[in-house]
Amino acid sequence: MEHLISPHGGKLIDLLVDDDHAEDLKQHSRDWPSWDFTPRQLFDLELLMNGGFSPLTGFMIKADYDKVCADMRLGDGTLWPIPVVLDVTEEFASDLDAGKSSIALRDAEGVMLAVLHVEDVWTPDRKREAKSVYGTESLEHPGVKHLLNEMNPVYVGGRVEGLQAPVHYDFLNLRLTPRELRSQFAKMGWRRVVAFQTRNPMHRAHFELTRRAAREADANLLVHPVVGTTKPGDVDHFTRVRCYRALMGHYPRQTTKLSLLPLSMRMAGPREALFHAIIRKNHGCTHLIVGRDHAGPGSDSKGKPFYGPYDAQDLMRKHEDELGVGMVEFKMMVYVPDKDEYMPMDEIAEGVNTLSISGTELRERLQAGKDIPEWFTFKEVAEELRRTYPPRSKQGFTVFFTGLSGSGKSTIANALAVKLMQLGGRPLTLLDGDLVRKNLSSELGFSKEHRDINIRRIGFVANEITKNGGIALCAPIAPYDVVRKEVRHMISPNGGFVLVHVATPLEVCEQRDRKGLYAKARAGIIKEFTGISDPYEVPGDAEVVIDTTELSPEEATHKLALYLANEGFIAGDGIE
Ligand code: PPS
Repeated sequence: MEHLISPHGGKLIDLLVDDDHAEDLKQHSRDWPSWDFTPRQLFDLELLMNGGFSPLTGFMIKADYDKVCADMRLGDGTLWPIPVVLDVTEEFASDLDAGKSSIALRDAEGVMLAVLHVEDVWTPDRKREAKSVYGTESLEHPGVKHLLNEMNPVYVGGRVEGLQAPVHYDFLNLRLTPRELRSQFAKMGWRRVVAFQTRNPMHRAHFELTRRAAREADANLLVHPVVGTTKPGDVDHFTRVRCYRALMGHYPRQTTKLSLLPLSMRMAGPREALFHAIIRKNHGCTHLIVGRDHAGPGSDSKGKPFYGPYDAQDLMRKHEDELGVGMVEFKMMVYVPDKDEYMPMDEIAEGVNTLSISGTELRERLQAGKDIPEWFTFKEVAEELRRTYPPRSKQGFTVFFTGLSGSGKSTIANALAVKLMQLGGRPLTLLDGDLVRKNLSSELGFSKEHRDINIRRIGFVANEITKNGGIALCAPIAPYDVVRKEVRHMISPNGGFVLVHVATPLEVCEQRDRKGLYAKARAGIIKEFTGISDPYEVPGDAEVVIDTTELSPEEATHKLALYLANEGFIAGDGIE
């Protein structure tokens, strides 16, 4: 493998110890504290152990961390842009002795994967870290939000010894370690390899860009997508990997390889570009493609981008020689219909007609089941995306009724259930208030706390149903706005969520008093009764409002079915 590029720092790190030593460490670990890793920490551990983070041999000690934040260098001067730290709770840290303690590092199931020999325990200034690494303290930046809101307050640094690599069950033949990739490159005689970093499905623009990059660098291509944690809201890695696989057949044979990188992305823009270059160097790549806004999280809520579009390229250019990894720069690629080809934006003459489809437009097209043109993405890739993002008519959805006792929620929900069953096509579950109280929530009363638990349970079940393509009709009182919104927030990413306010006024509900509960509530026999002695917060975000004072159940149900048809959840011609 001598002719391949040297790993960062000169030597490829491998933290896995031999079987005898591993057994020894396991024996000793009985007396050590254990730390169960979060998925993010696990990805860092994996790359530490397999040399993806060479020359790091463990989680950073304070001296390295401080210098990395301030100067992008490790204590010994090696270029390193991003902290790799182990964050723990104060309670856990209080039992640790720097220089003496060892920690058994475990996965979520409790399997011991590694040992950390504790050299430093400290409470970092995380705001300062945010400012230096991300250039901002704004919680709108997903990396900063994770750092300041989700990470634990104490860091532990020290050497790591690995017992076994984290276990994966998916795409095993595509998860190549630095050592495995290097050996394959050597076998195939690949000396110059350009890596493409991505956290998105790859469309024609990416395909053309990577081919051009490989030509420009006179190199083979490694498509090296991140399958660790990426930006919240990204397409899940299962779908993406199926898309990448579908794409691979379009590259000329023997020129391109696909491998998956278990990296926990920070979205740190320019600094992350350097991080990506170092990691790819360790995987045997000589070049990295750096495009527009590389590893940036886009813009804040005021539309201001966190990083300039080519900041990452500028920083990379500064350190290219020292790193020994060449940058292949790219401007945005757009489609030129007259030529039927993709071109970098800066090579297109003024006035030439160009086409592009934004991420938002793609999502809208998928949702509506509209055509996705072949100039935009290969049809195999489009098919994979359609499997994950079926049109609304094939997605699951929840209709969540809220309203006072006796407002007509159950009657309408039952009637709608029958109408939808008549239509067929999706399994349906009715989670009526009383039914839920009898089964899911039999131990709960009517305090705010208990009502919120009740609604969360209903939301949880409805979410599972929706996620699996079914219809959930829920009909509790759900008097509190915050928890209703929580449920909406949970379900919306997985399918439809329609809030129906059954807004029949209290006087009408009380006059009907079908269960005699209002009379009892007025007499003080039933306490905390919604509308009488307990609040009902009127929703401001209901998709449909129904007052049953004047509307018959048939009319109310028809109104709802029409809404569902207009929104594309059910076929309009099926409503009778
Ligand atoms: S909540 O607030 O959403 O958890 O309530 P929910 O699970 O829908 O339960 C409401 C039904 O319980 C009966 N009931 C009461 N309702 C409100 N307040 C008090 N204190 C109360 N005690 C009993 C009542 O029959 C409600 O059913 P519906 O179908 O709404 O009339």
